[in-house]
Amino acid sequence: MPRGVGAADSFGDPDGLSVLPAEEPLIASAVEKRRREFTTARHLARRALGQLGVEPVPILRGERGMPVWPRHVVGSMTHCDGYRAAVTAYSMQIRSLGIDAEPHAPLPDGVLGHTSIEAERDVLTARSAHDDGLHWDRLLFCAKEATYKAWFPLTHRWLGFADAHIVFDRDDAVGTAGEPAGTFTSTILIDGAAIDGGPPLLTLPGRWQIANGLILTTIALT
Ligand SMILES: CC(C)(COP(=O)(O)OP(=O)(O)OC[C@H]1O[C@@H](n2cnc3c(N)ncnc32)[C@H](O)[C@@H]1OP(=O)(O)O)[C@@H](O)C(=O)NCCC(=O)NCCS
Repeated sequence: MPRGVGAADSFGDPDGLSVLPAEEPLIASAVEKRRREFTTARHLARRALGQLGVEPVPILRGERGMPVWPRHVVGSMTHCDGYRAAVTAYSMQIRSLGIDAEPHAPLPDGVLGHTSIEAERDVLTARSAHDDGLHWDRLLFCAKEATYKAWFPLTHRWLGFADAHIVFDRDDAVGTAGEPAGTFTSTILIDGAAIDGGPPLLTLPGRWQIANGLILTTIALT
């Protein structure tokens, strides 16, 4: 993440956390698993806000599940088995953020056809010719979900899996612990008109990393 982004993550659900009273109705009828991931992610979001100097506030749910951040702040949250994370930034520095985590495992059979376009599947087929141990199908899915999370708060419009074309690059040098990592670009294939008065969304720049059995994708649009 670029400078100016607050970030916090966790590989479990620490004991003793609770949501703020205003958030309680959002999980009033949630099962225990959902309650725990929600509570931990909200806690991490407040830690990430704290890195910006923002006081702890409730993070409610807006249109189509979008998290509602304090005025002049953008952010994103993710939770999957064994991982939770939140990122935040001031909107003057970063226009939108998107983050997604997924287990580093193949997509279930039949899912790729619904979550990719032909050009992406062609690249995946070429990559599978020299097995590098990476599950590019799941990485593609993860990058698309991060794309949606960065896209939606700026457009308030649906973005389908066929509405963005993702192209990956892999870093030559791996991370200090030897984790594969790289960048990606999400090219938006539909009208990218934004509601914030800024330019239309044409391409979103992202980063990806695989570590600890997890894929993490992040987008920071400036
Ligand atoms: C919304 C979606 C991206 C969430 O991803 P996920 O892997 O299921 O779940 P994650 O745990 O990673 O993320 C959930 C968080 O996403 C955030 N989120 C949900 N809807 C959102 C929206 N419309 N805009 C931005 N963020 C949103 C929320 O913070 C949510 O957590 P919370 O409910 O605890 O607040 C996914 O469910 C979805 O609807 N995908 C279809 C759209 C899409 O991905 N299109 C591809 C475009 S190329």
